[in-house]
Amino acid sequence: MAILSNETKSIFTLQTDHSMYQMKVDAYGVLLHTYYGEKGTPFDLSYLITYADHGFSGNPYEAGDERTYSLDALPQEYPVYGSGDYRASALKVRYPDGSHACELRYVKHQLQKGKYALPGLPAVYAEKDTPADTLIITLEDTRKSFYVHLYYGVLEDLDLITRSVCIENHGEAPLYLEQVLSTCIDFQHGEYHLHTFYGRHMKERTHQRIPVSHGIHSVGSSRGASSHQHNPFILLTSPQATEDHGECYGLSFLYSGDFLALGSKDQFSQTRILMGIHPDNFCYRLDTGERFYAPETAMAYTSHGMAALSQIYHRAYRHDLCRGRYKTARRPVLLNSWESVYMDFDGKKLVEMAKDAADLGIELFVMDDGWFGKRDRDVSGLGDWHVNEEKLGCGLKGLSDEIHKLGLQFGIWFEPECINEDSDLYRKHPDWVLKVPGKAPVRGRYQLVLDFSREDVRAYILKQICQVLDSARIEYVKWDFNRSISDIYSALLPPERQGEVAHRYILGLYDMLEKLTARYPDLLLEGCSGGGGRFDAGMLYYTPQIWCSDNTDAIDRLSIQYGTSFGYPVSTIGAHVSHCPNDQTGRITPLETRATVAMAGTFGYELDTNEITEEERPVIQQQIQEFKKYYDLIQDGLYYRLTDPDRYPACHCWEFVKPDHSEALLCIVALQIQPNTVRSCIRLKGLSPDKIYMIEGRAYPGSALMNGGYLIPNATSEYESFRIHIIEKNRE
Ligand code: DGJ
Repeated sequence: MAILSNETKSIFTLQTDHSMYQMKVDAYGVLLHTYYGEKGTPFDLSYLITYADHGFSGNPYEAGDERTYSLDALPQEYPVYGSGDYRASALKVRYPDGSHACELRYVKHQLQKGKYALPGLPAVYAEKDTPADTLIITLEDTRKSFYVHLYYGVLEDLDLITRSVCIENHGEAPLYLEQVLSTCIDFQHGEYHLHTFYGRHMKERTHQRIPVSHGIHSVGSSRGASSHQHNPFILLTSPQATEDHGECYGLSFLYSGDFLALGSKDQFSQTRILMGIHPDNFCYRLDTGERFYAPETAMAYTSHGMAALSQIYHRAYRHDLCRGRYKTARRPVLLNSWESVYMDFDGKKLVEMAKDAADLGIELFVMDDGWFGKRDRDVSGLGDWHVNEEKLGCGLKGLSDEIHKLGLQFGIWFEPECINEDSDLYRKHPDWVLKVPGKAPVRGRYQLVLDFSREDVRAYILKQICQVLDSARIEYVKWDFNRSISDIYSALLPPERQGEVAHRYILGLYDMLEKLTARYPDLLLEGCSGGGGRFDAGMLYYTPQIWCSDNTDAIDRLSIQYGTSFGYPVSTIGAHVSHCPNDQTGRITPLETRATVAMAGTFGYELDTNEITEEERPVIQQQIQEFKKYYDLIQDGLYYRLTDPDRYPACHCWEFVKPDHSEALLCIVALQIQPNTVRSCIRLKGLSPDKIYMIEGRAYPGSALMNGGYLIPNATSEYESFRIHIIEKNRE
């Protein structure tokens, strides 16, 4: 068992292969956090906690005259609002009498074999070969109204500890949960850097590193989706931590809606990290006997730098979060119609493109937006999920059959959660959207959002989708969502329950995705929200890949994919080769460079195949062959960021290494051409120092490549790229 408790059952030590996490129930029944870090002897680390008489930091009544005991200063496992701890808290409850003051005390705990699951919510699961244990610690408020069940999942081999919280009302009247965050980690000692990933549409997940300083630094979303603007994944590292060295903690939220991630330093220079559902659009009424489950967070620790931390998440999310056939099956190389024809196509045009695609070695043809309802522009049609045969000049089955005859699979785009006012569905059911009575709703991309908190609305949309999927052979669905949510109000809920709508919407989304994946287990689902507006671990439970960004410019993608790689594996990152000049930036980049960058993702194309020149054709054929050859190395290999695009302007480098260290692929994109200079070199990572590796016919010891480095080829034109294969001698 990876969970230990001492004889008095007051200390709980969770151990993974390389990390350790400890809590202690103190004399007053308060659950203290005593340690998270490198694995060691499961000794009681509470000796590190200091007690002193701090002015203006009050004392719980039970402490009597003991003025050195204050929750305002102690490291706690689940701090609650109104307990005398004035720092940011995890839980805020409104009692039936309108009060908020609350204290939690230990009641019991329970150990279970295996990893807990959460009703209606995504969660890391333990595959057959993944040992896992669960600890549930139950606290109760001192007014004896509710329990707080703290869930811990320990996935030893993965070095991952998951957390969730369940609030159970056992009182006589409804409670209002005004804030239920999923995780708090208190660090009494040490200085830290907080790493977050900010951005905007077409520029997602830019890495930002700042010292945790006095006060609060928070990121989050109240847009109804995890958002382009901030990502529900953060790192906390030592100030010295680099890619290869230093202490790193990761906190990833398995949730696709509003979130809050917060780092703070208190009056005693103690650091507190919190993560959970953003309280802004949240207030949940919990009736007697009801339980509320907060979404899961996944925590990881390593003392070996950020690359090792990312690799923990890469492995865990590929192996124990993504599900379905395409968790392991090779994903087809696809051609997506969006940037080639947008909504301006008919069936004939698509088949022409598919013919060329088949000749190039592409395996899946995806018809993006524009095939349904009245949809030639984005002003109309959303909600009417029936094929526009007039526009296509054929039926969906006919089109799919034609495409299959060419040896390709067929995929299709949906945006199930949204609706245009100019649609038959809206004309029939104007009350099905999120809309506040008496106020005109905010529109986004000319569309409104369907009320997915409603079962009837979801059932209708799911039926429409199934009808389409059953009408033809369709192997892939892109599930898009193209606006931020506003006007959060559901026509079916009473006023006192309107604070639940944003969360119920996400539960509704998950419910629908669960039903869809259960009904079509072989379907490849790709998540999307105007690119990467909902790129989070919650979605990965349902869709094993997510379109990373609407920006397909290879150079911009370097930093977008770099930032994304901190918390998410390459196998989840949707990336395509698009045409040039690029539609978003106007930049011209070599076709080979666009492929190099797209190969650090799911790899596909998004250009008009009919416009490919005779010179480009064999190049693309070769790229596809190469991607297939390196598929396992890229998708399942260890991923190393070799340069930081913000700090190293000359070129950007990354590397995939087979877990047995026998093979690697070094990728380089030149960003600046320097005349009259000496060649730079890059130190490789993850190789075996004692092995001999062959690179372009020349032998190098692994130690030389890692300690000395590899000479970067001289680029002769801007944005030239190199894919350099490295293989152990005698395995070529
Ligand atoms: C946004 C997506 O990110 C694009 O790839 C494309 O599918 C459009 N929506 C279609 O409207």
